[in-house]
Amino acid sequence: MRELIHRPRRLRRSAAMRRLVRETVVTKNDLLYPMFVTAERESREIPSMPGVYRYTVDALCREVEKIAKLGLPAIMLFGIPEEKDAVGSGGYAEDGIVPRAIRSLRKAIGDSILIVPDVCLCEYTAHGHCGIIEKGDVANDPTLELLARAAVCYAEAGADVIAPSDMMDGRVAAIRAALDTNGFTQTPILAYSAKYASGFYGPFREAADSAPQFGDRRTYQMDPPNRREALREIALDIEEGADMVMVKPGLAYLDILREARDNFDVPLAVYNVSGEYSMVKAAARNGWIEEARVVDEILTAFKRAGADIILTYHALDFARRHG
Ligand code: PBG
Repeated sequence: MRELIHRPRRLRRSAAMRRLVRETVVTKNDLLYPMFVTAERESREIPSMPGVYRYTVDALCREVEKIAKLGLPAIMLFGIPEEKDAVGSGGYAEDGIVPRAIRSLRKAIGDSILIVPDVCLCEYTAHGHCGIIEKGDVANDPTLELLARAAVCYAEAGADVIAPSDMMDGRVAAIRAALDTNGFTQTPILAYSAKYASGFYGPFREAADSAPQFGDRRTYQMDPPNRREALREIALDIEEGADMVMVKPGLAYLDILREARDNFDVPLAVYNVSGEYSMVKAAARNGWIEEARVVDEILTAFKRAGADIILTYHALDFARRHG
């Protein structure tokens, strides 16, 4: 038999050899951990997201101290207000749940970890949409002003990065202008640029009580079959001043992530969303998959596809496992 010249298996023979030629390694520095803070009296685990809680401000501070010690670089914050109304006032009130949490966190943890509030109205509106309603639809331009107010309010409280997730047209420009006018020229924007209208947000909406009470989000979030449109959304956000951009969800959109990486040079984030997390947890609880192994494989896929930053509810477990 003729000798084979190429034997790719030579480089797979031992753990050390595989480590030497490994192309992609996820570290805790790549992770942004999303957390929920609530105005209710007690912290509560979210039933569809085992291990994820809505924390009171005090409990959040204790938890984030631990997270900072583990060496995670950043948390994202979502707020659950006392009350919701038609215009989402709780999202941009000076004493709203998120600015209160940011101020307390700053006292508790200093600058050891970045605080990245999500900016959107859906957690604060009684109808559950990401903007204000006029004639039965989400009104784009009037919503921009409220989003900009929320961004300034969070920056004043001490936010390190502002992350708009609403998908209104022109919101990055509106937020950038408002931040600059108020003296926050150094506060970066992480834009949820290619955010699809996805079934994978189900558990999050339970977590934040933010399911739309009528209709759905298809008039503002992207249509899942569209690829070119994602590149256009990202290009627009960069033009408007986004410092970092995001593709969301992750697993069903790895092709979009790769294209975004190949077409743009700003830091690129991906959101490993609630439904993706819940599926892994549910299968693991049934003994159908090995959780740690599957999580590492998923996070590696995001990085291999081009993500610099991975938003994931698995961040804490990952940091514990990988030191
Ligand atoms: C708010 C927002 C959502 C998520 C992040 N920001 C929900 C939505 O758009 O319905 C989803 C996050 C997740 O599913 O983990 N607009």
